Amino acid sequence: MTTRTRILTGITTTGTPHLGNYAGAIRPAIVASRDSNADSFYFLADYHALIKCDDPLRIQRSRLEIAATWLAGGLDVDRVTFYRQSDIPEIPELTWLLTCVAAKGLLNRAHAYKASVDKNVETGEDPDAGITMGLYSYPVLMAADILMFNAHKVPVGRDQIQHVEMARDIGQRFNHLFGQGKEFFTMPEALIEESVATLPGLDGRKMSKSYDNTIPLFSSAKEMKDAISRIVTDSRAPGEAKDPDNSHLFTLFQAFATPAQADEFRSELLQGLGWGEAKNRLFQLLDSELGESRERYHHLIERPADLEDMLQHGAKKARAVATPFLNELREAVGLRSFVAQTQVAATTKKKAAKAARFVSFREDDGSFRFRLLAADGEQLLLSRNFADGKTAGQVAKQLQAGQALDVRSEDLSFSVWLEGECVGDSPAFADSAARDAAVEALRIALTPVQE
Ligand code: TRP
Repeated sequence: MTTRTRILTGITTTGTPHLGNYAGAIRPAIVASRDSNADSFYFLADYHALIKCDDPLRIQRSRLEIAATWLAGGLDVDRVTFYRQSDIPEIPELTWLLTCVAAKGLLNRAHAYKASVDKNVETGEDPDAGITMGLYSYPVLMAADILMFNAHKVPVGRDQIQHVEMARDIGQRFNHLFGQGKEFFTMPEALIEESVATLPGLDGRKMSKSYDNTIPLFSSAKEMKDAISRIVTDSRAPGEAKDPDNSHLFTLFQAFATPAQADEFRSELLQGLGWGEAKNRLFQLLDSELGESRERYHHLIERPADLEDMLQHGAKKARAVATPFLNELREAVGLRSFVAQTQVAATTKKKAAKAARFVSFREDDGSFRFRLLAADGEQLLLSRNFADGKTAGQVAKQLQAGQALDVRSEDLSFSVWLEGECVGDSPAFADSAARDAAVEALRIALTPVQE
């Protein structure tokens, strides 16, 4: 069996997708999801949207529009897992578990937070003026999005690379603290699509809502046409040769044309095609490429109940992964049922009493050590190094002699002492309860059995 690559990305729901979003992120993501090797998780990052926007109507509208855009663009919800972040209660739960291991110093370094602080300082404000805990903790929520589903690849823009790195950092810390050798979280990698062009906007700068230079995607043919008519060109008259390589109108055309169509358009421009006519050609191209999707889009927007169903279906698929995984994580940090825990402690006792065993071995440096293993193989103690096998054997024997054990707990592990000397250490346990259970198991294992 081959494991598919899990590709996961989120879309913050604060706006309406424009042509630049479509060519730069949506279209390539939909294409990537058709790869038989890809297991794609795409979601509406609506919890993230709340960080930037306190207008409920806009949040709601944007979620609907973004969902409809992806589906109209050809996303197949049976093939991918498409859901709203806010439909997965495991995500905020995991966010808290991660918050408790995330270093504050790490989050202090996040670009978005730092930029806000810098701006405040520049304008003589309090450094934290207007900064919410949402903005500050943004990377932890994003880490939960990614780690919850053990994504391998995370397609993002360059501004998000740091967040993916923070997810690795936080995930690693959790693995280290609670994994006991097991890697709960896969280390994600940011995927930067170098070949995907960022589309220029009407004025030639990067197409972006913040520059107010966008071309709408699915609103209406008329709005698209109006926007295209506002594309800034040079002042060359019809009949004068145009320079396609210095024309963002040509760049826009190229992003949606076949190579043959682009070549033809290029030679027409070189031969003096007027800008008015050129804009017309661009509109015709976009309309033929996107017209059908636009219809699907409006069809979907008019049926919000259908969209709701599709997203609920997606949430169900996502939770089939998230619920059992979060249960495992809760266990790991010590949020366990009292009933289950008593049972674990009881069986540990029984097993330990039954068949704890010493296993001695020789280190590369020639010294001798032993392990004390519980019946289930769990290591209770690893001895220090002894110069020879005889000493090691004597220590093991002394431990079983039935005298009161000198066990010293420190943090999440313990050590065992004989005559004022440390002779062995336990591994690190997930929490102090697990540590205490192991001490108990050790005592029982070392109590001579009277038969
Ligand atoms: N922060 C991302 C952005 O603004 C959106 C996002 C939220 C995301 N969670 C994510 C992207 C998880 C990738 C993976 O673009």
